[in-house]
Amino acid sequence: MHNGTTITQFIIEEQRHIAGATGDFTSLLNDVVTACKVLSNMVNHGALVGVLGSAGTENVQGETQKKLDVLSNEVFIQSNEWAGHLAAMASEEMDEIYPIPAKYPRGKYLLTFDPLDGSSNIDVNVSVGTIFSILRVSGGVEEPTERDFLQAGVQQVAAGYALYGPSTMMVLTTGNGVNGFTLDQNIGEFILTHPNMTIPADTREFAINVSNMRFWEEPVKRYVQECLDGEEGPRGEDFNMRWIASMVAEVHRILTRGGVFMYPFDSKMQAKGQGGKLRLLYEANPMSMIVEQAGGGAITGRERILDVQPESLHQRVPVILGSKNEVERILGYHEQA
Ligand code: AHG
Ligand code: MN
Ligand code: MN
Ligand code: MN
Repeated sequence: MHNGTTITQFIIEEQRHIAGATGDFTSLLNDVVTACKVLSNMVNHGALVGVLGSAGTENVQGETQKKLDVLSNEVFIQSNEWAGHLAAMASEEMDEIYPIPAKYPRGKYLLTFDPLDGSSNIDVNVSVGTIFSILRVSGGVEEPTERDFLQAGVQQVAAGYALYGPSTMMVLTTGNGVNGFTLDQNIGEFILTHPNMTIPADTREFAINVSNMRFWEEPVKRYVQECLDGEEGPRGEDFNMRWIASMVAEVHRILTRGGVFMYPFDSKMQAKGQGGKLRLLYEANPMSMIVEQAGGGAITGRERILDVQPESLHQRVPVILGSKNEVERILGYHEQA
């Protein structure tokens, strides 16, 4: 069996080099890891423990919540509210921010999360995940407000995701590269299995939900059409396509073998007053930090996602991320348009 580096050991050793580190951050990450282990267990047991199906409620975005959307949100709150490292949390499944209750001490960090990403896949037993981002409180620790969360992605202290796939993995960055850990179910620990993950700069694989094609802008239509034209087209090469409908699984594939993932600006989302489908604070920003740290690119089409100044908690943005040269090509198509 594996006698490797546990995620806790890895984080402690990484934090040792940071002047002024108090251990708060290490301890916070540890609680996030625990929450993901609990979720992994729930997802793995599925119908055996009665967690599949709809909760019969809607979240603030107007999506029907799955039972697991609600349960995973509760698990994240319970695991992370008590230790004194956080001032507040925010999630896809909560309309407002969640200030740490008065019975617990408040700390200097903020946690945002998508507790269950790809929840349309849960009932069909396809991979789902959890995405999280850690920020420092910008205002006072005592009275956290939504405004404290409205920080550009470049301010993130750490970002990560858990992928509940054939094996459960945790992928993490604290701004010093990207490392992947696999959950050893027998000992209950994430073990470092994918050190220094990097995204190949070139790719011949793209991911986009083509059912939305009629709503896209010209630059994205052009890019996808050129991929579809293959060897006979201007790219002179055949492309492959994947769409899992779990951002975590798509990003993980891209970290493993390269590729481009797009949920671009579309006129249908614009009609609802939003620039895209994916949420800036707990989907686009953490994934963009991970992708950039692995050498890839992440843009809205026209600008770097990590530079977008958030205006509201559940703001949505167009997302185009992955292999650097392809992302730059798509940026170029937008600039020419
Ligand atoms: P969530 O399940 O957290 O609401 O996120 C779903 C997101 C993302 O994971 C995925 O890339 C995308 O929605 C899939 O959207 P479509 O169903 O429109 O393809
Ligand atoms: Mn959702
Ligand atoms: Mn999601
Ligand atoms: Mn979700």
